[in-house]
Amino acid sequence: MPAEISWRYTLIPPKQWKRLADRAVANVEDESKDRAKAGADPDDSFEARREQAEQIKADNADDDLQPGMVGRLRLMVSAATPALLARAIKDVKAAMGDVQVEVPAQAALPLLLEQFPGESVGADLGSLSAGPAGGLALWGRYSDVYQPALGMLGSHNQVGDRIQIERGRALGWIGIPIGYVKSNGTVVHFDSHTQIGRGHGAGIAVLGQSGGGKSSFVMLMFFWLSESGVRCSVLDPKIDFAGFAYYIAFGPQVLDPGFMADADAGILGTPASRFQPVNREFWDDTEIVDLARGARGSQDPWRINDTFDDGYSLALDLTDVLFTDQAHRSIVRKALRSMSAAHKEATAAGRSFVCGYGDALSYIRSEREELEADYQSARTKGDTSTLRHARDEFDEVITRLENGERVPFLRLLLGKGTDPQSKDRRAHQRRVIYTMAGFTSPDHPENPELWTDKDRNASAAMLSVLSRMRRDNLSGRMGTNPTTGEPGIPPTAAFVDEGNMVTADAAGRGYLTVNVRQGRSLNSTLFFIDQQARGMQAIEKQASTESAEVNQFATVLAFKQRSKGEARSALAALRSSDDDVSSAEVDALARKLQAEEVGGLLRIGDCALRDPDSRVAVVTIDQMFHVLQRAAQTNPKLKAVDWANPVPTDPRDWDINPEALLRVRTNIAVAARTDPDLDEGSAGHQDRVDDIEGPSVGEDLEDELDAGRERTETPVAAGPG
Ligand SMILES: Nc1ncnc2c1ncn2[C@@H]1O[C@H](COP(=O)(O)OP(=O)(O)OP(=O)(O)O)[C@@H](O)[C@H]1O
Ligand SMILES: [Mg+2]
Repeated sequence: MPAEISWRYTLIPPKQWKRLADRAVANVEDESKDRAKAGADPDDSFEARREQAEQIKADNADDDLQPGMVGRLRLMVSAATPALLARAIKDVKAAMGDVQVEVPAQAALPLLLEQFPGESVGADLGSLSAGPAGGLALWGRYSDVYQPALGMLGSHNQVGDRIQIERGRALGWIGIPIGYVKSNGTVVHFDSHTQIGRGHGAGIAVLGQSGGGKSSFVMLMFFWLSESGVRCSVLDPKIDFAGFAYYIAFGPQVLDPGFMADADAGILGTPASRFQPVNREFWDDTEIVDLARGARGSQDPWRINDTFDDGYSLALDLTDVLFTDQAHRSIVRKALRSMSAAHKEATAAGRSFVCGYGDALSYIRSEREELEADYQSARTKGDTSTLRHARDEFDEVITRLENGERVPFLRLLLGKGTDPQSKDRRAHQRRVIYTMAGFTSPDHPENPELWTDKDRNASAAMLSVLSRMRRDNLSGRMGTNPTTGEPGIPPTAAFVDEGNMVTADAAGRGYLTVNVRQGRSLNSTLFFIDQQARGMQAIEKQASTESAEVNQFATVLAFKQRSKGEARSALAALRSSDDDVSSAEVDALARKLQAEEVGGLLRIGDCALRDPDSRVAVVTIDQMFHVLQRAAQTNPKLKAVDWANPVPTDPRDWDINPEALLRVRTNIAVAARTDPDLDEGSAGHQDRVDDIEGPSVGEDLEDELDAGRERTETPVAAGPG
């Protein structure tokens, strides 16, 4: 990571400046006399300083005093590991020459003070006091402690969005605030598309045990992104996102026993329903597709794809998900091949050819009839066991597909060429949520071998939705920014909850891999939520074998982890690959990713965040607004309580719940009293090369400016290695 340079100037009032300058000039003059006395050799650099001093003296000689300015150059070096840090420091030293490197334990306060105008006067910080003549004294800084705490932007080790200058151009931007660094309260900003803007991977992995706050955080992002114009599509197996959107749009009406019936009938908000949105605009921009209830064939591979070939390849993938038995797979594949041949023939003859996955059944049936004929003729001749067995295999497939028309999830996939072909090509709204009422996670989500047919149906429906999301999100079509009028690829985002259901099979992994790999150039991000790290690691691995890039998941948020093993693999997702720390150290770090109750650092809503620069810190997510906290409620008991509160019709009436902010501050205040090392909370490392002298008139001036600053800095001779 490159060193960050901060070069700040302090403007000093004329009188103060004169006092400081006179002192500095006097010192130079003293030295000049001493040199003359000792008969020292002429020295160019000293001569330059002397001339500078004379100039300042001349400038200050008249009554018309001028303010002065002092510059302070600071280089900040940070790295993911101690080894990388040592290397980075070495590089900076090599580039900068003789510089002093410090690894300060508590840089927060001086860096914070730096953010405010004026010079701090220790005694006055935290109180409002009057200057000698009444009124506020100019040069001193008077502020309420409450304010600096709010203004701690960028004053301490920090994660999240960053603007980066590359060949004179600013890359990236600073997104919305999502929470605070737990150990020091720094506000963390995050916008999912910043990482793409800075040339990093398109993935955001959200990992952690059940109930840790993954979905709540992602729903927050979903809300802010979709409202800011990012087209968002969500694969929402647990109906969390749908509930979120229903509550924001309809408020407490969602608790009415008749509400879901109208939702199922698709009439919410229409004159046919007694439920009308309190936020009409929000509702109009939201589409909720319930995969458990959609019409037969509504997610058919050919219905949701533009070309026969795209439909065909999805149909093959669905076949692998739906059927585990190789014999069954071959039977369906053969039917699909026959359909492909029929398509070719029709196209060659200039006829149109329309088909659906459900049509495979008729091809399979006719094969079955041929088999029957073979069987009957073989019966007269002798051994028929092979044919009988083959016939049984066919019957199993036929039964599965026939019943499938009445089975949730599977029925959506079984379209037919004879169905009314209104291609579902509505313009994508801000929000599309594919939800799955009645979905229950398999007992062994990570092991498809153990899945039931019901699990497979759900997984296949999810795959179909992913394919659709990919078509919507990765079109790469240029558009016009509605605000600036500039051309560009409109930003999109995909959200996948219960990621393990998707990554358990190769096809699902493949879809997500393409999503993260191409997302970077097509301005499309992927939020991937999973209880375990392994799904995300599998995608990362697959993506990196297909291209040389690494870190497809530029941002990782690890919420509290269920077990030591999980914590260790989440830690691996947070750290860079060239780490070389002892296993004891790894264990100690992994422990921090567990719940507070078992000796970790994380409470509900806390996570370890690794940003695209590999900076890591424990972050407390702040859902900020009462409405959003309530809407994101996933606990069924609390839903009834939270969703009973009205949703204001005007967002300006949304009120803020400062609980998270206050909790973070309280904890920091307590820690500051009991634990001198506030940095403990951070799993990463960040250190500075501080206070490299700027264009200064002399050391005394620097000292003068430093006086009164409460610094506790530990000088470090050199980086190890
Ligand atoms: N930042 C937060 N601050 C306070 N409470 C939170 C926060 N985030 C989540 N919660 C609460 O924690 C509970 C669980 O959250 P959530 O449903 O997001 O967990 P999850 O990680 O998605 O779990 P699962 O893996 O079971 O889906 C909810 O009741 C939610 O209100
Ligand atoms: Mg969840």
